[in-house]
Amino acid sequence: MKLYKKEGNIIHILSFPNETVEKGDYLLVEDSEAAKALIVQVIDVQFANIPGVFEELLRSMPDGGELMQGEDFDPLEIAPHITYIQDASLVVCKIRATVENDSLSSTSSWLPSRSRSTIKKLPLPALLKLANIEGKLPIVLGGTKDSSLLTIDASSLDGRLNIITGKKETGKSHLSKLLMVNLMQYKATVVVFDLNGEYLSLGMTGDGKRNGYYDKIHVLTPSQNFKIALKQLNLHVLLGMLIHALHLPGTSAREFRRIWLSLKERDCLTLQELGEAIRNWQCNQHVRDALFSRYHSLVNSGFFTDNVAEATVIEEFLFKTREQGGAIVINLRNTSATDRQLVVEYVLGKLVELLTSWKLKAIFLFAEEAHLYLRETYWDDIVTRMRHFGIFTTFITNQPDTIRENIYRQADNIFLFNFTNEHDLDVVSRAARVDAETVRSIARDLPPHYCLALGKVVRDFPIVAKVKALDVKTMGETRLFFKD
Ligand SMILES: Nc1ncnc2c1ncn2[C@@H]1O[C@H](COP(=O)(O)OP(=O)(O)OP(=O)(O)O)[C@@H](O)[C@H]1O
Ligand SMILES: [Mg+2]
Repeated sequence: MKLYKKEGNIIHILSFPNETVEKGDYLLVEDSEAAKALIVQVIDVQFANIPGVFEELLRSMPDGGELMQGEDFDPLEIAPHITYIQDASLVVCKIRATVENDSLSSTSSWLPSRSRSTIKKLPLPALLKLANIEGKLPIVLGGTKDSSLLTIDASSLDGRLNIITGKKETGKSHLSKLLMVNLMQYKATVVVFDLNGEYLSLGMTGDGKRNGYYDKIHVLTPSQNFKIALKQLNLHVLLGMLIHALHLPGTSAREFRRIWLSLKERDCLTLQELGEAIRNWQCNQHVRDALFSRYHSLVNSGFFTDNVAEATVIEEFLFKTREQGGAIVINLRNTSATDRQLVVEYVLGKLVELLTSWKLKAIFLFAEEAHLYLRETYWDDIVTRMRHFGIFTTFITNQPDTIRENIYRQADNIFLFNFTNEHDLDVVSRAARVDAETVRSIARDLPPHYCLALGKVVRDFPIVAKVKALDVKTMGETRLFFKD
């Protein structure tokens, strides 16, 4: 291989037919005299457009052969060389880092010598070691092309904002389960908003037996084993639910506050008393109507109960996970859109409450298709406020445009599965931690279950890995009609 051209942080390398390189491979461009080397990643392999080769190709087309009579005369035996040149390729690479004295820097300001430089493949294990990706809390993501393992450090997910995205059925939820169980094993608390009921049997092996996580996974299904009593609610959490999930206007919210306080004073915070109080409250008819309609939504959701013995104390579940780690799965499968928002509002309100009072250290939140239940203002909150409270979110979606642009810009890690649609690729390219060329060229060719890891987890060296299998009972598969 020979260095051919450098433009900004793109390098072009000439490669001959016996040197096979593929997209995603890493190469080391060493300049012995400068005692430095560039680490570059192949983002495209093209034919080398050499003047004369075009002519030679035309000449060797079948028609040309038929028209020309006589024997081929090649006394200097250059024909094999010409074929060799015809097959030469131009490798387009992106500069990722400079190595100098075994330490990495992200500069690409120097120019390696064209005549002296040697170019060779940089095996992934060497790169992983050089970049120190593994760390103290290893999580094996899967295998890479040259059959080494891609192991990331759980701390690179700590305090971070992550996105898992890709086309349908490429393995996003699978990866999120893998991350979850590994975080749990390092004693982290994980909360999942499970839209399709896919995480319910994470505690089971493929053949239905209990696995090692069984005791650490707590599934809460709203209005079944997850109900709350008004008595345990903080007024501001309930107001949050009324205003954001049920769109209660401000004036009515103020009136609600008075009703609540008066009930609390008399120690009769029950649904029934609340209904009575709204009915008899001295206020504008419109306000009363507004309050009543929300009251009925609360009652109909089935998420509230007056029976304190039946009520779920979500704190207890969260505290259980404090010592040994664990996951709270909020099963939103059969919950209607409004009720979903109510539940999510409650859980997030509660988490913020527990985190601000330091009853919990931090939690990892996994949110599948969050646009279906996360209210407008939470998106900004999650990248700013929530993160400081200690809620570290991973968004999982197959529609990348449902995630706000600022989330992409702030995301620390992106796990990208296959995308072919231009629009989807465009959206993902907005992420600050990747460049559009890498996303476009590599994500388009990823087979199912292969993921391109980008960002802090791989120290900004984009790496493709086949996500490893998990022995848990999978759910959430598409229901089929034509299946034995
Ligand atoms: N790395 C893997 N090894 C083995 N099986 C996998 C792997 N990744 C995914 N699968 C399987 O492939 C199927 C689809 O995976 P998954 O549900 O994770 O896809 P998805 O991208 O979340 O799909 P959707 O867009 O429908 O949510 C599942 O049955 C899952 O068990
Ligand atoms: Mg999924």
